[in-house]
Amino acid sequence: MDIGILRDRVDKELSSIKTIDDVRKVRISLLGRKGVFSEYIDNIKLLDKEKRREAGQEINALKTETENRLRELEISYEGEEKGKRETASRVDITMPGKVPLIGRKHPITQTLDEMIRIFTSLGFSVAEGPDIELDYYNFEALNIPADHPARDMQDTFYIQNGVVLRTHTSPVQIRVMESQLPPVKIIAPGAVYRCDNDISHTPMFHQVEGLMVDKNVRFSDLKGILSMFVQEMFGKDTPLRFRPSYFPFTEPSAEVDIGCVICGGVGCRVCKDTGWLEILGSGMVHPQVFRNVGYDQEEITGFAFGMGVERIAMIRYGIDDIRQFYYNDIRFLSQF
Ligand code: PHE
Repeated sequence: MDIGILRDRVDKELSSIKTIDDVRKVRISLLGRKGVFSEYIDNIKLLDKEKRREAGQEINALKTETENRLRELEISYEGEEKGKRETASRVDITMPGKVPLIGRKHPITQTLDEMIRIFTSLGFSVAEGPDIELDYYNFEALNIPADHPARDMQDTFYIQNGVVLRTHTSPVQIRVMESQLPPVKIIAPGAVYRCDNDISHTPMFHQVEGLMVDKNVRFSDLKGILSMFVQEMFGKDTPLRFRPSYFPFTEPSAEVDIGCVICGGVGCRVCKDTGWLEILGSGMVHPQVFRNVGYDQEEITGFAFGMGVERIAMIRYGIDDIRQFYYNDIRFLSQF
């Protein structure tokens, strides 16, 4: 048995290795079950007794050496392979970057934030009430009689007997006055609901309620506060006017218009050629409302107002279809 031939064979096969796959093939052909080494080991039996030991030791030593060299080759080719894969997937730093899509506040939220900022800077604090409201707070306590059109099934979402989705933020007036004594100076922003759906109405929209109650609160205070709000919101030169109106919970009542910001007051499609845009309802708190919350209506007076946030946003941004706010179309929303 010539171990030299085996050694040459091993050297030859190992030097032919060029890839990790070659390592696997050579390992099988040399060390596999039917490989060169097992052939030699089988042949040991054929030798004389005294030569067997020596040959066995030599073959085993060579086998261990071969295993070690194969493992070394394997490790180095594996590293190379991995390196290649990594190079292929490595970041190309010369490529232009991907700009991440950053979200932003909804235009209604932006407008609401701005309204809250203006009123809190005028000393109002923010109060909140439930969207699902008792009939009592939404209507009854606000002096809205049972046969008032605002109670009509077509306007109001009824949850169950005596429970509605609030149709305005005015019930928060009652909740606040029930829970504290004058002076009161709050705004109440939030969602309101009416069974309506067209170019100028969505079933859910937002209002900001205002309420100021104290000794000697006058209509001129209402006028002053709203003038300051309008000037902050729409610009210093924006004119406003009070028009007599009617709400069951205010007396006297007034609706407030601002000079049309689209045409500057000369008349256009948006203001229907009137030169004015209606933005809110307001008035002096009705004595019956004070009685309902246990305030002494001889001692104190107050004003209240309520305005639609969507309406303000539409005027602010020049949007003519209120439903745009709620289609969730990113092309629309990303403009604000
Ligand atoms: N709540 C009234 C509405 O939704 C607006 C309003 C509020 C009027 C406060 C007067 C005082 O139309």
